[in-house]
Amino acid sequence: MRLRRAFLYTPGDDLHKIEKACTLKADCVCVDLEDAVSFSHKEEARLTAAHTLGTFDFGKSERLVRINAPSTSCFMPDLRIIVDAIPDGIVIPKIEDAETLQYVDGFLEAFEAKKELPIGLIRLIAIIETARSFVNLREICEATSRLAALIFGAEDLAVSLGARRTASNREVFYARSQMVLYAAASNLDAIDLVCNNYREMDIIQIEALEGAQLGYCGKQVIHPNQISIVQKAFSPTPEEIKKAQQIVMEYEQHMGDGKGAIGLQGKLVDMPVYRQAKQLLEKADLITAW
Ligand code: COA
Ligand code: MG
Repeated sequence: MRLRRAFLYTPGDDLHKIEKACTLKADCVCVDLEDAVSFSHKEEARLTAAHTLGTFDFGKSERLVRINAPSTSCFMPDLRIIVDAIPDGIVIPKIEDAETLQYVDGFLEAFEAKKELPIGLIRLIAIIETARSFVNLREICEATSRLAALIFGAEDLAVSLGARRTASNREVFYARSQMVLYAAASNLDAIDLVCNNYREMDIIQIEALEGAQLGYCGKQVIHPNQISIVQKAFSPTPEEIKKAQQIVMEYEQHMGDGKGAIGLQGKLVDMPVYRQAKQLLEKADLITAW
């Protein structure tokens, strides 16, 4: 299990931003070859991304690259160049079926075998962002054990649906909720939508807390301003940790006495509440160790 709270994109053709991204302590740094890069800069971005992955120190951040969508002419050239730099993972946008993931899985396996690397070393992360992606979610989740996470792409989904985006995100709520459910069923991380507003911090804070409540493990971010606020929203607070420790202690003590349910400060504590507390403490430990 690894932390994927703040998932930072940085444009693949902007050396300064990539360099900066490596110092920002985001859980993941994703060098983008897709929407942040104009068509005329695709080639340059691909080479820059490969170079920086091979030479820059990303610290503890997961080293990721978002390549162009499978339906585009950039997809295979991106894959061929990027794989040589051995990133921690490749992010593929607009995944609509299992076959595409299986094809990339085979490609990576052949590369890993040739280089005598452990099979499965390079992870895959799929962006779920078209109506077809959602209809085929189950097969996508089960496509390959290399798949580590799903990302919710609200803006492209709105295009696919013909929906109108609002600040409430109500128009994408069903899909947002559906994706986190399918991800959990396949033991995959779920990473929440981008907040395009990077100046008004209360907006992203509310949105990030909402994502955490739904079960998302993190959120895509596009600007340095957004990193710490998102990391905080996806981390347990000291009060939550204290309460969880108390629940675990009291419940384990009473379990020993043969009780399955107890009352603690006027609230029921039973097995699911105990398990929620254990889960929260595991996450807190992971954050402490990060
Ligand atoms: N990664 C790394 N550094 C970033 C960054 C990012 N995503 N966004 C901004 N910065 C840097 C800037 O280069 C600047 O650095 P400096 O002070 O050393 O010069 C600093 O943070 C402040 O940036 P600011 O001036 O507020 O923003 P900007 O006008 O340079 O950039 C955006 C605004 C939106 C263009 C930029 O944040 C961006 O490119 N975001 C990523 C977009 C993207 O990848 N989209 C695809 C996925 S949705
Ligand atoms: Mg998209």
